[in-house]
Amino acid sequence: MIKKYVLGEPFETEAVTIPVESEQRMMDFGKTEIGDGFSFTYTMDDTDVIYGLGEANRGINKRGYIYTSNCADDPNHTEEKVSLYGAHNFIIISGKQHIGMFFDYPSKITFDVGYTRQDTLKVSCERADLYVYVITGESAYDVTKQFRKLIGSSYIPPKFAFGFGQSRWGYMNAEDIDKVVAGYRDNQIPIDMVYMDIDYMERYKDFTINEERFPNFPEYVKKMKALNIHLIPIIDAGVKIEDGYDIYEEGVEKGYFCKREDGSDFVAAVWPGWTHFPDFLNPEAREWFGSKYARLMELGIDGFWNDMNEPAIFYSKEGVEALNKAIKDYANGEEQQEETDDILNQANAIPVKVKSIMEHLQNSSEDYKRFYHKVNGKMVRHDLVHNLYGYNMTRAAGETFEKISPNKRILMFSRASYIGMHRYGGIWTGDNQSWWSHILLNLKMMPSLNMCGFLYTGADLGGFGSHATRDLVLRWLALGVFTPLMRNHAALGTREQECYQFEHIEDFRHVVGVRYRLIPYLYSEFMKAATQDDMYFKPLGFVYPNDRRAVETEDQLMLGNEVMIAPVYTQNATGRFVYLPEEMKFVKFLPDGSIYEEIMAAGNHYIDVALNEVPLFIRKDKCIPVVDVAQSVEEIDYATMKMLGYDGAIYDIYDK
Ligand code: GLC
Repeated sequence: MIKKYVLGEPFETEAVTIPVESEQRMMDFGKTEIGDGFSFTYTMDDTDVIYGLGEANRGINKRGYIYTSNCADDPNHTEEKVSLYGAHNFIIISGKQHIGMFFDYPSKITFDVGYTRQDTLKVSCERADLYVYVITGESAYDVTKQFRKLIGSSYIPPKFAFGFGQSRWGYMNAEDIDKVVAGYRDNQIPIDMVYMDIDYMERYKDFTINEERFPNFPEYVKKMKALNIHLIPIIDAGVKIEDGYDIYEEGVEKGYFCKREDGSDFVAAVWPGWTHFPDFLNPEAREWFGSKYARLMELGIDGFWNDMNEPAIFYSKEGVEALNKAIKDYANGEEQQEETDDILNQANAIPVKVKSIMEHLQNSSEDYKRFYHKVNGKMVRHDLVHNLYGYNMTRAAGETFEKISPNKRILMFSRASYIGMHRYGGIWTGDNQSWWSHILLNLKMMPSLNMCGFLYTGADLGGFGSHATRDLVLRWLALGVFTPLMRNHAALGTREQECYQFEHIEDFRHVVGVRYRLIPYLYSEFMKAATQDDMYFKPLGFVYPNDRRAVETEDQLMLGNEVMIAPVYTQNATGRFVYLPEEMKFVKFLPDGSIYEEIMAAGNHYIDVALNEVPLFIRKDKCIPVVDVAQSVEEIDYATMKMLGYDGAIYDIYDK
């Protein structure tokens, strides 16, 4: 059952697609307070589990910490962080009763899940203008499925997007990309996509191609397609200010960029230098920007990733002016060094004011108050709708795809997001690090993202920042084998981590190859989840809700209806402990191409998993299809399909 409560004058985010009558009364559980702002307080039972929040830090059970939905460009996903790139305001209280709550509110909102007081859940935001949807059901899983119906069907990518993709910030030109393609094809490591980061553009201008670096780009795209490689360019939110650049000039002329209070176009620095931000919340501007994706599609491009759309701001004109003034004042002796206990500051005589302005230049909350969107003829200050920016950038693209390519799916995923965006694209989880703890964070985020509608998701495998090691990349790939988006991506300046950069390439060939053996199964489970508003990844507690041990197991996931995954995420480990809530078949894809199978009883086990093996579990009495390895999705030979799992050993389905 779904109830909708209207508080104040909510902004229409269009996250929900199904009309729900609104209640005249207040919520009859928990405690709602409306005054200066809004808060909802609920006393949790000791055994209540709190699910949800999508792309958020820490565990699957969100209890014990505090999270703020505030789309943030922050590459340091350490444990104390409260905001990442997404804003997914759906939580489930699961215990004696199962209650889902969606706080449809586009600005900063905080979920204190037992952080301030261990037994208290408190959701609060500054303005009491929001919709609250309350969903009751038989279980957390049931509540999730009702919520998913409410917000509309999830985005479905093209089939090739279930292949493996290689990316790196720093591929400068066609030769660099050729090397990557050769590195994979020559070593027979399967691949379907190579991603083009910002350097393919002319001075980082959206929808341009640097012709020196990519002479005759349409031919190049064709050449790649002939090798079954899809080139996937990045699109950044900021539009470079440059005379003669048509997108900049058109946007200015038509008034499609975000404005300052005085009506002038807001200016911020991102990769291209000074930029304007397209006003994606204005439907006309959205349609205009979206139509530009067609330019690249006409050149043969069939996939994109949208970036820097929180939006990320390195600094604004106003920020720089404030900094310059502080420096000048300091130089003129007008601004003395402030009293400080900080010995370092005193020793280096850093002017405190200058330092503090410098530290807050990037992604400054002050800047988010300096620009406006035009919505239904009204100017809306950005910070009040901050979490909708990436959503609407991706919607701009999605609406164009629906219009110009209704019969062909286009690959699309975004960095920033809000619930509702799941109908237009997937997400990747942004700038993680080559840390073992981030393999686990990747795993834990997946089911929470599914609860919020985001099915086509994945992390930068191998880690974006920091230097990767061979073992870390292999272990992370063995998780990536199962994530719908399987992409290795790394930052400029980090150690090269393409699969062919390490010794014993055959191990990488094998692990990525397992992905291709499983694509028929993974794709079909994905399609079921997308078309039935269901989940691709589930926490164990959704399948075994009465088994407390299963509920508390957060380093294993259920995938589809047949599989449980339990990747190894510890350095130097030659295996791991697993918990089986019921009897299952342990399966390992071995490097010689054979498959190890062993039925294991319910309970605790230690499984050996070498670096070059991919483990999974098949649920009792179930089986899954596997095919032979192919070098690309296109080349999968479905005639090689066999069933793996219960019902005896592998058998050829065509013999049955
Ligand atoms: C951002 C993105 C990252 C990309 C980089 C350069 O940090 O998150 O994926 O490589 O920008 O475009």
